[in-house]
Amino acid sequence: MTGRTLERIETRTLVLERLRPDHAEELKVLLLDPRVWRTTWPLSGEPTEAQLSESLAAKLDHWERYGFGWWLLRDRSTGEMVGRGGLQWTYAAGLDEVEAGWAIMPERWGQGLATELARRSIEVAFEDLARREIVAFTLPHNAASRRVMEKTGFVYERDIVHVGLPHVLYRRVRDRVQGAAEPAATLEQSAPLTRSREARKEHVGSRQGRTRSR
Ligand SMILES: CC(C)(COP(=O)(O)OP(=O)(O)OC[C@H]1O[C@@H](n2cnc3c(N)ncnc32)[C@H](O)[C@@H]1OP(=O)(O)O)[C@@H](O)C(=O)NCCC(=O)NCCS
Repeated sequence: MTGRTLERIETRTLVLERLRPDHAEELKVLLLDPRVWRTTWPLSGEPTEAQLSESLAAKLDHWERYGFGWWLLRDRSTGEMVGRGGLQWTYAAGLDEVEAGWAIMPERWGQGLATELARRSIEVAFEDLARREIVAFTLPHNAASRRVMEKTGFVYERDIVHVGLPHVLYRRVRDRVQGAAEPAATLEQSAPLTRSREARKEHVGSRQGRTRSR
């Protein structure tokens, strides 16, 4: 663990803020845009107020339990909300994994923002959380999301079915540093994660059967 805070991170263009209850209204602007919910809520259509509240509550709970999670993304220069995403425990194709996810305001698509978030998420996963690998998955036709994965070193692994829909699963494995010892973080890594293993299972279990929202 690096010891730096994960609650507020600055990248070249973005400020990543730990999701908070008062982000709800800004999140609605993003998540109620059909260009976004078509891929983030593929099963149920436009999310209802109740689904949005439940989704935010789950993200807040995730931060409480594990000390990391999804961020609200702001443009560093204007403070404007431009998206959300980050890292979370997920249950995909029978495996308990840490997943990277992203959604960007459509007006800002194509500016490299999801790629910038993905790169920082990968760094956090490997350096701060001491993960050895993370996954990302999306609907097969989501070419933009797949491109973000490929640009940031995720490798296509296989087709999966997730919440009853075909998805493509990608995996990003930590780069090996030549001559470096196995991560000294092993013990540090296992401490917080082992402590939370039961809670994590409970959380993952509670996701099964729910409508997928990301
Ligand atoms: C997926 C998403 C987050 C990408 O955000 P973004 O900030 O536009 O992504 P970036 O600009 O970093 O990169 C997008 C890449 O996809 C490419 N791309 C976009 N649309 C594409 C398409 N239809 N076919 C092929 N490539 C495409 C872009 O050209 C760019 O690649 P490049 O840098 O090589 O030119 C955004 O489209 C989004 O929010 N979609 C709705 C929510 C969503 O689907 N989230 C993912 C759920 S798994």
